[in-house]
Amino acid sequence: MSKPYTPNLAVIRKIITENEAKDIKTFELVFQVPEAMKNFEYRCGQFAEISAFGAGECPIGIASSPMDEHYIQFTVKKVGVVTTALHNSEEGTVIGVRGPFGNGFPLDRMEDHNVVVVGGGFAFTTLRSLIKFILHEANRDRFKDLTVIYGARDPGELIYKRDLEAWEKRNDINLNVTIDRTVPGWTGLVGFVPAVLKEVAPSSSNAVAIVCGPPIMIKFTMPIIDALGFSPEDVVLSLEMKMKCGIGKCGRCNIGNKFVCKDGPVFSYKELQMMPKEY
Ligand SMILES: Cc1cc2nc3c(=O)[nH]c(=O)nc-3n(C[C@H](O)[C@H](O)[C@H](O)COP(=O)(O)OP(=O)(O)OC[C@H]3O[C@@H](n4cnc5c(N)ncnc54)[C@H](O)[C@@H]3O)c2cc1C
Ligand code: FES
Repeated sequence: MSKPYTPNLAVIRKIITENEAKDIKTFELVFQVPEAMKNFEYRCGQFAEISAFGAGECPIGIASSPMDEHYIQFTVKKVGVVTTALHNSEEGTVIGVRGPFGNGFPLDRMEDHNVVVVGGGFAFTTLRSLIKFILHEANRDRFKDLTVIYGARDPGELIYKRDLEAWEKRNDINLNVTIDRTVPGWTGLVGFVPAVLKEVAPSSSNAVAIVCGPPIMIKFTMPIIDALGFSPEDVVLSLEMKMKCGIGKCGRCNIGNKFVCKDGPVFSYKELQMMPKEY
């Protein structure tokens, strides 16, 4: 990357409101210069710095799959200055994209293994990229069984509903979607993600687990993962530290001697156990 601080200009070609609260939106982008798409070669689990001009920039995980050749997608929750500016943008607005940054999920390690994906809340974005990648016809044979456990507070907070519906119809994915509390009309699973994980009890034999979600979900999920027999090196988590440069220069995101932006954001549980508990 010759000019890592210079954003590539991209046009918002589509905006999808993902949840009932309307504070999570997916932005589909195309680069203004076609070569920029070729140069934006990314892996599942990587992120980019997205800028809303006049407001600033912030790190956002890449929600599309590397198999989506002509566009990239980011799913953004409205929390503050930049994310609000993005939410106020319309289709056709030009924004900036720097990246891709970070290491991404260890696909080589997952190949020929059963893959267990555990996610909650809007952290499901990069997991969606991974699931789409594994399910793509060009890749599906490279991985064994795929088990997904995904939870949200209520049905209105589930994101990527059109993907969930499509995955539900397939027989090469064991999809378990759960909501925290029962509501009228919901016929699916009810219960917190860790409880559903315990119930589904995917085998840890020849398996890698990918866990992304809010800290409370991680806290209660890890003992179950442990009890299922996954060894710390076969469990992968993605961290969301505060970041600025995204390229290991500013020191905003370090934990001990690791830069989350450059050495992460994806770490094995074994690596995390050896790092100071600052995340
Ligand atoms: C690797 C990585 C991937 C991410 N992926 C996504 C994603 O896919 N979708 C998404 O919506 N968000 C994602 N985030 C979080 C996103 O970067 C923050 O929500 C964003 O920086 C907030 O910017 P803001 O200007 O809107 O908020 P600000 O005005 O800066 O702050 C508003 C609130 O958000 C908090 N906040 C600010 N930065 C962060 C941060 N990095 N993490 C958590 N809280 C923060 C502040 O403490 C404050 O409470 C990711 C963060 C990282 C580091
Ligand atoms: S964000 Fe600057 S060093 Fe990581």
